Amino acid sequence: MTAAALPSTGAVTGLGETLAFFLDPSFSQRRFRELGDVFETKLLAQSIVFIRGERAISDLLKLEYSLQGWWPESVQQLLGSRSLANRNGADHKARRRVVGQLFSSAALSRYSPSIESLVNDLAQELQEANGPIPLAARMRRFAFSVIATTVLGLEATNRDALFADFEIWTRALFSVPLALPGTPFAKALAARQRLLDRLKTVLQTNSSSEQGGLDLLSGGLDEAGLPLDDDDLVEQLLLLLFAGYETTASSLSCLFRALLLNPEVEHWLMQDLNSSDRPSRLDATILEVMRMTPPVGGFFRRNTQSIELANVAIPKGKVIQVVLSASSSPDQTDLETFRPQRHLDGSFQQTLLPFGGGERVCLGKALAELEIRLMAVGLLQRVQLHLEPGQDLNLQLIPSPMPREGLLVRATAR
Ligand code: HEM
Repeated sequence: MTAAALPSTGAVTGLGETLAFFLDPSFSQRRFRELGDVFETKLLAQSIVFIRGERAISDLLKLEYSLQGWWPESVQQLLGSRSLANRNGADHKARRRVVGQLFSSAALSRYSPSIESLVNDLAQELQEANGPIPLAARMRRFAFSVIATTVLGLEATNRDALFADFEIWTRALFSVPLALPGTPFAKALAARQRLLDRLKTVLQTNSSSEQGGLDLLSGGLDEAGLPLDDDDLVEQLLLLLFAGYETTASSLSCLFRALLLNPEVEHWLMQDLNSSDRPSRLDATILEVMRMTPPVGGFFRRNTQSIELANVAIPKGKVIQVVLSASSSPDQTDLETFRPQRHLDGSFQQTLLPFGGGERVCLGKALAELEIRLMAVGLLQRVQLHLEPGQDLNLQLIPSPMPREGLLVRATAR
């Protein structure tokens, strides 16, 4: 069968499409409905092919050699040219192997007590608080601490300084990459340098101790079999903060929001939570949260050769944006309901890929799953959370879904 031509919105300058992209949260969903699961448009003068759905995404993930990673210019510069996110082929594979040692099952067992103690601290803070606590901010603090303290082994002063610079750095991630004095991008480049310097000092002083996991990186080799130098390693560590913090904080905040809004699901989940087997209701609940509010809305590739996705021809050299939200049609209204049972009773047939797939599948997936499980079990067993009335519980969607007013809660002991 010959492949179909690539459907297009017909945008010429991309100005109207760019405005719609920023103003209309259902931008891509509306165009997918009109044009199908693969279509092309123009954003900020950049031609972009949007794809969604199992068929197009699984076709893409099978292609290894005709694809490269791609990030907007601002992200590329802020992550750095050594970052594995900006590398391809053997360079990329070698760095994944090295950094992957931080997430082996032996490493995760080492981290568990430290993660549990962060969960205990939060449970205690919630129980002792006199007023409402913004749970989303606490989930951000937790996710940052897991990477900074548990994985990188930073002490409090280093961690706080790192956090302050990291916030400056993140603010410019999706901005215009013009380093004019005083712009957010120029400030972010300066913050990036401080972050790298600090990470390098930590790497040189901590890697021999067993605090955190940095000792696991020693002896890491590049694609030519030579030791990775510290300038290279620190860019990989910066990537971990970028990739692992907002995403995990978003899934945790959305998980607790969903349980608070659906007490019958919480009740159903609690019946299973104390079982000694790995609770499957919890897995289903987490998957349902990621179905309804994917922490990562999508990712990019560039095709170096012409390819076919879901039987649509994509000429070589396009930027492809993969949209990870689950597909639904107007006659499937049940899909708008939060119902984790759908993942256990066989009624949901789509494959969800919240962590991506293929050779660039999330490197921190096992750590993220461990963090979410320990936080969910630890808090739910100790405290009963109650929503503070009168708050806006809608989600802000960029960069990752988060309750707009911070998810204010009070807690009572169970
Ligand atoms: C719920 C939490 C998380 C979600 C949903 C998530 C999702 C994703 C997705 C979809 C990708 C693929 C991007 C692509 O294909 O280009 C990715 C890549 C990545 N993630 Fe995660 N992630 C999460 C947490 C983490 C954590 C905790 C870490 C590490 C501390 C991490 C580290 C990475 C890295 C290093 C990559 C780049 C892999 C590569 O380019 O080879 N992620 N993540």
